[in-house]
Amino acid sequence: MKLLILSCLTFSAILAQQTSAPGGNLCTYTPVGDESNQKAVPIQDFRSSGLDFIRPNWCITHCQDRKSVKVAARFNFANQSTLVPTYKVRLHNTRENGMKVHAELTSGVPTKRDDDPFNFCMDDNVSAQIDTIVSTYNDIETMSEALNYYINKPGWAYLIYDMGNPPSIIETDNVKHDLNYCSKFANKQFPDGTYGLYQVFAGLIKADSP
Ligand SMILES: *[C@@H]1O[C@H](CO)[C@@H](O)[C@H](O)[C@H]1NC(C)=O
Ligand SMILES: *[C@@H]1O[C@H](CO)[C@@H](O)[C@H](O)[C@H]1NC(C)=O
Repeated sequence: MKLLILSCLTFSAILAQQTSAPGGNLCTYTPVGDESNQKAVPIQDFRSSGLDFIRPNWCITHCQDRKSVKVAARFNFANQSTLVPTYKVRLHNTRENGMKVHAELTSGVPTKRDDDPFNFCMDDNVSAQIDTIVSTYNDIETMSEALNYYINKPGWAYLIYDMGNPPSIIETDNVKHDLNYCSKFANKQFPDGTYGLYQVFAGLIKADSP
């Protein structure tokens, strides 16, 4: 596999403190263990909306050029059972194969789903709204605001990436099939005939603990 050029974040570093983010944002909150950590690199750009102010339960480390991102989010999952299957999910976007999903079970007991086991956007309404928003709007800023406006779920935060040109990787741990969580990608065709690929990461964020 080709080595990806990391623009300013070093994703091998476990400790956020070891990451340098010149001109960007750096999260220095101490991990508590149940975070969903997401790394995306390299991407073209990203935007967030909803309840997205930076806090311990939703923090985005990024550089000034916004081409690599590391998110630590704590979701308020609808089903709190420890039996719920939990995955480490890797999205690989390559020129040869497009977006490929690889999900590795890390805990819990898999349940049989008739449809796509790699669907991590369980609320079909949310999933359909994301498709509509990505196909309707042509800039990531508007898409991001539209996610919050139309999906309209109190307590949710939304993150959308413009994946840019392949190759790129998005890796997320602590992912569940849950109604309060959604991760999906969507293609769009621009008026000039070119295509774009977008990835959305969203969900109900845990309330701040005192
Ligand atoms: C929660 O998850 C467990 C384990 O997968 C499952 O047995 C149970 O039915 C789920 N509860 C609800 C309300 O969906
Ligand atoms: C999806 O939307 C339909 C129509 O508005 C509604 O009846 C249904 O309850 C919604 N489903 C979920 C899971 O929110």
